[in-house]
Amino acid sequence: MREIGVEGLKTGDTLASSIHCSFSYKLLLPRGTVITEEHLRRLGSLKAQGHCLVLEPSDMDGIRLDLLDRVDQKVKRAYLDAYVVGKSIFENLQRGIPINITLASEAVDVLVGEIMQRGELLLQLAVNRLIDDYTFSHMVNVAVYAASYGKSQNYGMGDISDLCLAGLLHDVGKARLPAEVLNKQDELTAEELTLVRSHPEYGYLELLKVREINERVRQGVLQHHERGNGSGYPKGLRQKEISRFARIIAIADVYDALTSDRCYRNRVLPHEGAEVLIAESALDMLDLEIVRVFLSSIAIYPVGTEVVLSDGRHARVIRINGFPLRPVLELLDGNDSGDWTPAGILHLLEHPTMFIAKVIG
Ligand SMILES: [Fe+2]
Repeated sequence: MREIGVEGLKTGDTLASSIHCSFSYKLLLPRGTVITEEHLRRLGSLKAQGHCLVLEPSDMDGIRLDLLDRVDQKVKRAYLDAYVVGKSIFENLQRGIPINITLASEAVDVLVGEIMQRGELLLQLAVNRLIDDYTFSHMVNVAVYAASYGKSQNYGMGDISDLCLAGLLHDVGKARLPAEVLNKQDELTAEELTLVRSHPEYGYLELLKVREINERVRQGVLQHHERGNGSGYPKGLRQKEISRFARIIAIADVYDALTSDRCYRNRVLPHEGAEVLIAESALDMLDLEIVRVFLSSIAIYPVGTEVVLSDGRHARVIRINGFPLRPVLELLDGNDSGDWTPAGILHLLEHPTMFIAKVIG
């Protein structure tokens, strides 16, 4: 992404930030617009001024086009918007440029709007890793999971937006880490680990510079690595000493990290991720009540999802029965040519040793 003067726009550029009238602040062109001759003419006649962000080809690196094709355009755009904004905020911080709250709030508004309407599609994008770029897709995924939790608990829109913003910004403190530590694939030295463990405080300090960000969001960022049994950092807080926002972000953070491929291990399947959350709540690290609600709020396998079971059979989700990881399935018989026919119903809840091994569509 690069910042240019509005007068420097060319046809074919994609806006990564909206353009507003510099006098009335009326929206002239929304983010995501692909610039045409007509747009340039209009901007010229309005004598539009100021700066905007445009996408560069590298911003789309690693985005899984196969998944993109199958997802509703608006949902896809909300996810990609948040990804591009999160990446830009992080990379700007690395260059010493403070968080652009207007950009972050716009992305959060769009994301929350889609979560309220078609949240299950965003959850699907998150769990299926739309973008093969852990650092920045993790920011968006945590935002999606945290906001989905708020939605499932009927939080007000302000609370859901704040949760979404805290999720998006929870790791921005990592922008202060030296690149060799941030990208290190081998085990960290004790000194490097101390540095990495400073990222919640670094993030909090960055958020303090932005007047529009409230203390609840800041605490969510500062405390997202605290654990209920006192084993977390930076302060080793316990139980309810940790803010509710931070306890929610922590669960979203752990779940997304587990279900992502990392340089040091392969991703786990959604049901395995759920088991780890439950195990960590049994150790008083994560909040059991929030874990329980979190797992029922993330419709990992929405109705209509085609899956492969652990015994190799294909099936389609036909009902969620209160246990999102163990839905009711319609078994499918067929072959790789794509001619699948229904072959009976399977209540996954009644088959504890069987699990969904893969999502195929
Ligand atoms: Fe973190």
